[in-house]
Amino acid sequence: MTTTIVIFGASGDLAHRKLIPALYNLYRKKRLEDAFHIVGVSRTAYSHEAYREELRGTTQEFSAETFAQDIWQPFAEHIWYGAGDAAKPDELKHIDAFLSERENGSANRLYYLSVAPGLYGAIITNLGQLEMAREGNGWRRIIIEKPFGVDLQSARELNDTVHQSFDESQVYRIDHYLGKETAQNILFLRFANTIFEPVWNRNYVDNVQITVAESVDVGHRAAYYDRAGVLRDMFQNHILQLLALVTMEPPISFNATALRNEKVKVLSAIRPIAAEDIVRAQYDGYCETEGVAADSQTPTYAALKLYIDNWRWQGVPFYLRSGKALKAKTSQIRVRFQRPPNVMLSLMDDDSCTPNTLTICIQPDEGIHLNFQAKQPDSSHETRDVDMEFSYRRSFGEQQIPEAYERLLLDAINGDAALFTRSDEIETLWGLIDPILKPALGSPLIGSYTRGTWGPKEAEDLLARDRHVWRLGCGPDGTG
Ligand code: BG6
Repeated sequence: MTTTIVIFGASGDLAHRKLIPALYNLYRKKRLEDAFHIVGVSRTAYSHEAYREELRGTTQEFSAETFAQDIWQPFAEHIWYGAGDAAKPDELKHIDAFLSERENGSANRLYYLSVAPGLYGAIITNLGQLEMAREGNGWRRIIIEKPFGVDLQSARELNDTVHQSFDESQVYRIDHYLGKETAQNILFLRFANTIFEPVWNRNYVDNVQITVAESVDVGHRAAYYDRAGVLRDMFQNHILQLLALVTMEPPISFNATALRNEKVKVLSAIRPIAAEDIVRAQYDGYCETEGVAADSQTPTYAALKLYIDNWRWQGVPFYLRSGKALKAKTSQIRVRFQRPPNVMLSLMDDDSCTPNTLTICIQPDEGIHLNFQAKQPDSSHETRDVDMEFSYRRSFGEQQIPEAYERLLLDAINGDAALFTRSDEIETLWGLIDPILKPALGSPLIGSYTRGTWGPKEAEDLLARDRHVWRLGCGPDGTG
């Protein structure tokens, strides 16, 4: 049966940079059925040909390594364009007629909402009222981009709106971090190996650090970002999802229900984050950015400590940080194990003897590093930190790491929602972030940091209180 992928927001950045290149690569790898249409919808007027031509240029740019004209040509014949404002029922009706004409009978449809979040509600309601969500002549699914709401209340309202038009089983809330190979590999590392899981708990783990640092600043997205800030933009979704993958119990299977049940379970066990355990800061010069309020208090950086009150993780601190305009781009998870008992090697007291760490490098330099102590050659009993490294590129070759959107689009087409966020899960995530969106009464509003550094001093102090320091297990320069 034909499958139609309808991209609302077809003239936007995401469609050009990510969605079309991902679909092109799926086509190139012969992962798409023979019968499919891709229909771009937005208000801009394009002819089908002009739209294809524009996409050819951007796909060539954003998928430079895999672009080939002789593959693009037959792929482009599947692309169509429908001008219209999907938030207006009569215009969406026209688009529906165009889709039916192309499909010429029963067809599956995947709607992709890549429009301004303010339009989600109207488009979803229209899809419902025009019966475009009704299944029978093929399935109907919808992918909804982030941000899904701006706080708990609005996320609940959006879920209600969605459920008036779509059944939850038709809904795919996207978080592109879950589509990253290295994020998916967290569960394989933990559950496809015998050696890690037995030590993956409070008896052996001392603390866990998650760093998602970006060197770019807010750039041209200032208007969106100044209303969102780092807690909504990165913590509510990407960072807490990484935390869930690191801490969840093994699901009984890899299916969407089992996996998401476990994620919700562990997220629900996170203790409310204490006001003194969170640092918010803004990089110098942020308020001078076009689109940012002159007296903006929006954090571009945050660091926090949290605890998970369950059997496995009781008492283990988790330190999370993310920010823009930092020294380097790197996302990594660093699990630090406890010190061994100090019986045989008195040197274990020495600070030069670091406890074992396992670092999962999400990006760049995708891989896993295990640090352990080795005896320094030609010494009596000095030890040194050494690194056992797995690198994706070395083991699997450059071409083996697909873009996150490839995996996620393919999963949605195949009806696998495991890597998408369920309605109760998104509300649980907001439930954690909602109370810390604003500083508590009496706390400083916002700190500051110099661009190109690893963030504010207060973030160092947060760890120093527990006699820890932020460390990177791979990439940039080890500390920071
Ligand atoms: C997006 C955020 O979800 O993730 C951006 O809105 C951020 O602000 C981006 O830059 C980071 O994604 P990645 O894949 O580059 O780490």
